[in-house]
Amino acid sequence: MVTISRLENYFVLTNQKISYILEILPDGTPAHVYFGKCLPHIDLQQLQYICRREGKSAGTIKVYKGSSFSLADQMLEYPVYGTTSFQSPALMISVNQSPLYLNLSLQDYEIHAACHNEQPEAMPHCRFDEHAKTLVLHLMDETWKIGVDLLYTLTDDSAMVIRQTKVTNHGEQSIQIDKAASGALNVGGSDWDLVHFEGSWARERQQVRQNLVQGQVDVQSLYGSSSHQSNPYTVLTRTGAREDQEDAYGVNLVYSSSFLNEAMVNEFDATRLVSGIHPLTFAWTLRPGQTFTTPEMMMGYSDQGMDGLSRVFSRFIRDFILNPRFAYRHRPIVLNSWEAVYFELNEDNLYSLAKKAARAGIECFVVDDGWFGKRDTDTTSLGDWFVDESKFPHGLDAFASKVRKLGMEFGLWFEPEMINEESELYRQHPDWVLRPPKGRISYGRSQLVLDFANPQVVEAVYQMMKPIIEKTGLSYLKWDMNRDITEAWSSYLDRHGISQMELFHRYILGVYSLYEKIQRDFPEVLIEGCAGGGGRFDPGILYYSSQIWVSDNTDGFDRLKIQYATSMGYPLSCLSNHIAEIPSHQTGRLIGTEFRKDVAFFGILGYEINLERKQDLDEEQIRLQIETYRQMEPAILHGDLYHLRSPFHSNQPAWAIADKEDLYVGVYRILSDLQSVPTASLRLPFVQKEENHLPKEWICNDQRLTSALLAQMGLRLPSSNNGTNQKSAQMVGDFQSCLIHLKAVR
Ligand code: GLA
Repeated sequence: MVTISRLENYFVLTNQKISYILEILPDGTPAHVYFGKCLPHIDLQQLQYICRREGKSAGTIKVYKGSSFSLADQMLEYPVYGTTSFQSPALMISVNQSPLYLNLSLQDYEIHAACHNEQPEAMPHCRFDEHAKTLVLHLMDETWKIGVDLLYTLTDDSAMVIRQTKVTNHGEQSIQIDKAASGALNVGGSDWDLVHFEGSWARERQQVRQNLVQGQVDVQSLYGSSSHQSNPYTVLTRTGAREDQEDAYGVNLVYSSSFLNEAMVNEFDATRLVSGIHPLTFAWTLRPGQTFTTPEMMMGYSDQGMDGLSRVFSRFIRDFILNPRFAYRHRPIVLNSWEAVYFELNEDNLYSLAKKAARAGIECFVVDDGWFGKRDTDTTSLGDWFVDESKFPHGLDAFASKVRKLGMEFGLWFEPEMINEESELYRQHPDWVLRPPKGRISYGRSQLVLDFANPQVVEAVYQMMKPIIEKTGLSYLKWDMNRDITEAWSSYLDRHGISQMELFHRYILGVYSLYEKIQRDFPEVLIEGCAGGGGRFDPGILYYSSQIWVSDNTDGFDRLKIQYATSMGYPLSCLSNHIAEIPSHQTGRLIGTEFRKDVAFFGILGYEINLERKQDLDEEQIRLQIETYRQMEPAILHGDLYHLRSPFHSNQPAWAIADKEDLYVGVYRILSDLQSVPTASLRLPFVQKEENHLPKEWICNDQRLTSALLAQMGLRLPSSNNGTNQKSAQMVGDFQSCLIHLKAVR
């Protein structure tokens, strides 16, 4: 149960897992006191004892003449520009380019049920239930009549605090918001490592860890998406701590555009992470009476390191972000045509492929790209969402129904936000493209970006997509976004006298509004997110797309790293993984079937393979794989993931997923190792921890094993895994793997 109480100038928010405590400082500013394990019996005396301030805040600027009170050495909940705290602020407001020096102080507060957190416009948000509660602190600047509401929501059973900020102009003149972060996470001490997820196309979310010292480190995207290069999921973990031990805090944003997470350590040994929309490409005009609402910010805590934190975030995303219609539901196993045929498609070759796919037990056939306009290459036709009749002379609906007759669902690829100059749409509406009236324009994959800040453009795209979805009886829609946004300038905003600084935010709101239109009219269509692979892997997209294509890189080894790191902040049931051909189309690497399977099984399984060509994997093998995966799927959808050995540090990575009945351990050996240990075993310490609620006994290959044995001594590993049994000379030794199943004895 969530309780929120006020004890004089303190607010205490608690559920079974955590407590979050704030203090209202003498000038009315909210400051942070505590975030961590639940403190069930905290009272005013203890709070006064722990918060007693000593020292003179030497060397700082003071709030009042003659006093020692400064904001510089406080852990501020929502630092404002231009106060006695000089660290990077959460909020900056100006009028006619003159900064306002706000004096925000608590005026009032409310506690209410959080299930009413509907957003002002199409904006993804946590789907709280009636057990959640929100504390709203109403802060007010009396001089400028600017109200700032800080919202803190706790749910019943999650070590997570959700923050959001609303800025309201109660004055009589327009103001400009230059920066409005969603919130700030404060942690005491300076002994923290920052873990973040950097990368590139086909190398998304490479885990990076660095020690924080006094100063600031920015984790950010300026791409107009959460990006391949970075990710809003950012973690603070104790300096040098193991991944599964000690305190760890994580933040994420329910947002999909450019973001900034600023990690800072000050001279008073305090660490803060300010997180929100990137202020460099954002400013927002607020007319009298208007309110701006920031994206929600998730702040999670675990005392089991970033591995424990991964379970806090995964459970929360499954329960409160994903569409409940799909969150825990079996997802169709797809065969995707992209790596199978690329642009070389027509109804005949696709149908032959579909027949084979159906025989192999595939559940959904996805035509990925190439089906519309005159799309024979990636230089043309984006924007022309009507079928290419030269490829589908009988129509796409006829093809879709043939696929359905084979017993499969039908899926299609769209890239709604993009346009090629070589298209009907461009010829008709050149002004629907983001581009300044003069000067340079840059291309990504020969394409330009549509002006999704213009509601007319969004509606027009939807009106093209709608009949296709209807007529084909679409079950699955892959929504791609293949280029980042440059020269962001909208003729629509110009015509309406809206600042171009609002473009990036308005663009993503346009994207969300298209998602809403599709989901309103076609609630049963499963939308898979994609952005040139995993370039927009964030809770904003996950609100609409219950799964996201993790990366365009389908090489088994690279995928293991990308998936392992992605699973640090996201549930496996959001990771769309396909088994693809060898040699890998991206790396040219040869990795055996077993290894690719044992990687792809940790997520939502699919295939991207041309069954017409000779493969190391035939229809029968696929059928068997699918049967095994089906057994494992409940654990993927409902289970908890334990990170055991990281592919970033170990030649023998391992992870395990457990639900109430089953435990699956994936063990890999990247390079063969002559020194293989004859009694090799892998300790599973998590099976014995009370809080994981796992059984005391398991069956593994007819052998009864206690959790104590598995935790203390370990699970026996085969002396050589699948690789050594491979016939092909190149395979021997390297890239071995095994998937070990343990059944709970209850
Ligand atoms: C992007 C996607 C791929 C595929 C192609 C099609 O690269 O990430 O999965 O859909 O586009 O053009």
